[in-house]
Amino acid sequence: MTVSPDRKSEDTAPDPAAGALPRHVALIMDGNGRWATARGLPRTEGHRHGLEALRRTIRHAVKTGIRYLTIYSFSSENWSRPQPEVSFLMGLLRRFVQRDLTEIHNANVRIKVIGDRLTLEPGIRALLVEAEELTRNNTGMTLVVAFNYGSRDEIARSVRQLAEEVAAGRLAPEDIDEDAIASRLDTAGIPDPDLIIRTSGELRLSNFLMWQAAYSEFHFSPVHWPDFDEAAFDLALSDFMGRERRFGGLTAKAL
Ligand code: IPE
Ligand code: IPE
Ligand code: MG
Repeated sequence: MTVSPDRKSEDTAPDPAAGALPRHVALIMDGNGRWATARGLPRTEGHRHGLEALRRTIRHAVKTGIRYLTIYSFSSENWSRPQPEVSFLMGLLRRFVQRDLTEIHNANVRIKVIGDRLTLEPGIRALLVEAEELTRNNTGMTLVVAFNYGSRDEIARSVRQLAEEVAAGRLAPEDIDEDAIASRLDTAGIPDPDLIIRTSGELRLSNFLMWQAAYSEFHFSPVHWPDFDEAAFDLALSDFMGRERRFGGLTAKAL
């Protein structure tokens, strides 16, 4: 894997210029179950192949020079799936961290986990902390793992924290502004996603990064996640690079 330049100087940089690569790509990795069902396989096989697609995608993102890659791995609503599938997905996360952490670390990738950790089993929580600790000083791409993540839950936790600070007299209600909320989200310090890719043809957010997606561009790929490859990723990137982002203002040519 190639190592990208240092991150520190660009965290506060303006959003990517027109025609530039997205700085932050967020992925809704969807369609594992349908991929498997179409092949007469159990859904878990789809998840297993989905892990291969994830490895491929991380390598490609690093090589391409993406600075932040967020992956939606398990939502706060995915607990409602049958228990064996939930267990399989928990096992897959363990396997991912145990088998891939060294390669990820060697590629100078920093891992950051978002989502509610408190309700996860202690063994998984410890693995996530280990992954973050080992990679915390890496200066290449940041891999944001959304696990047990739900946007409404994240916002509710942030608001609860604000309320506690007000109740303790550490914060005045009039100081609660957009930055105060954003800085208490799990994604504090991470720039908003420039591009959100969802595979498998569904056209929805499913409780993913709703605050952060205010001005994200969307790319919907018909490909089921296990089949997502470098070409499908590049297609999403070139789609993004052809977009005109206005952030509520006017473009230079309209002025
Ligand atoms: C995405 O694939 C993986 C997770 C949500 C964990 P799905 O399991 O949602 O696959 P489909 O959408 O049922 O095909
Ligand atoms: C979103 O996919 C969650 C992840 C990819 C982890 P889902 O498959 O859970 O979303 P819905 O249920 O189709 O909206
Ligand atoms: Mg799905």
